[in-house]
Amino acid sequence: MTGLDDRGDNCWPVRVLTLFPEMFPGLLGQSLAGRALEKGIWSLETVDIRGFARDKHRSVDDTPFGGGPGMVMRPDVIDAAVTETAGPPGAGRQTPVIYLTPRGSLLTQARVRALAAAPSGITVLCGRYEGVDERVLEAQAVEQICIGDYVLSGGEPAAMVLIDACVRLLPGVVGNDETTGEESFERGLLEYPHYTRPAAWQDRVVPEVLLSGHHEKVRTWRLAEAERVTRERRPDLWAQYRRATGHRQE
Ligand code: ADE
Repeated sequence: MTGLDDRGDNCWPVRVLTLFPEMFPGLLGQSLAGRALEKGIWSLETVDIRGFARDKHRSVDDTPFGGGPGMVMRPDVIDAAVTETAGPPGAGRQTPVIYLTPRGSLLTQARVRALAAAPSGITVLCGRYEGVDERVLEAQAVEQICIGDYVLSGGEPAAMVLIDACVRLLPGVVGNDETTGEESFERGLLEYPHYTRPAAWQDRVVPEVLLSGHHEKVRTWRLAEAERVTRERRPDLWAQYRRATGHRQE
């Protein structure tokens, strides 16, 4: 087990159970998340699942009952690793245990916000091979989360996505709260487009209203643009937004 210790009361602790602890912190050690890790705003403990294997071959997986391709991670090994790291399942457990899998519920910004607000932080289980024996997921009351409708080679990259999304919402990580309040998904809309200098570039000019200095007009234009891109790119979000706001455009 290796860990970067909690450094203070406001530290958001993350524990990652993985067969590849050397993958971490990886990209979470860079830029915004990396600086926050150094500052002790969050902490990372990686737990090597193989350390909980009990047979002489240190096996963590076996062939699936019923046949089929690939290997399944053993319930006894995962059970020992989760209990040791997060405590036994039940009311006394302080942290949600999350298993990243394409079979999980789709991750949303609302779920990210709730997880980032939990003082206990999160415990993340990364699967490899065909997945984890279903019984231990039930017995350990594990929440199953999918980061998108595509299949990765393992849970580690998905875990990094989940952790990154949470860490950037911790107090003191992103400079100002307005930055996260207006961005995509926070209002049920994708974000409006952004422009910077030069005002004219390769025959393309910045929309005039953004140069006007007229804050109310800028606000109205940005809302209209956010609505337009959401309508064009994400009919699912647009339908929800229309239901919530009574917006009349199809
Ligand atoms: N593991 C493999 N693919 C995944 C996905 N899309 N989301 C979460 N975990 C995964």
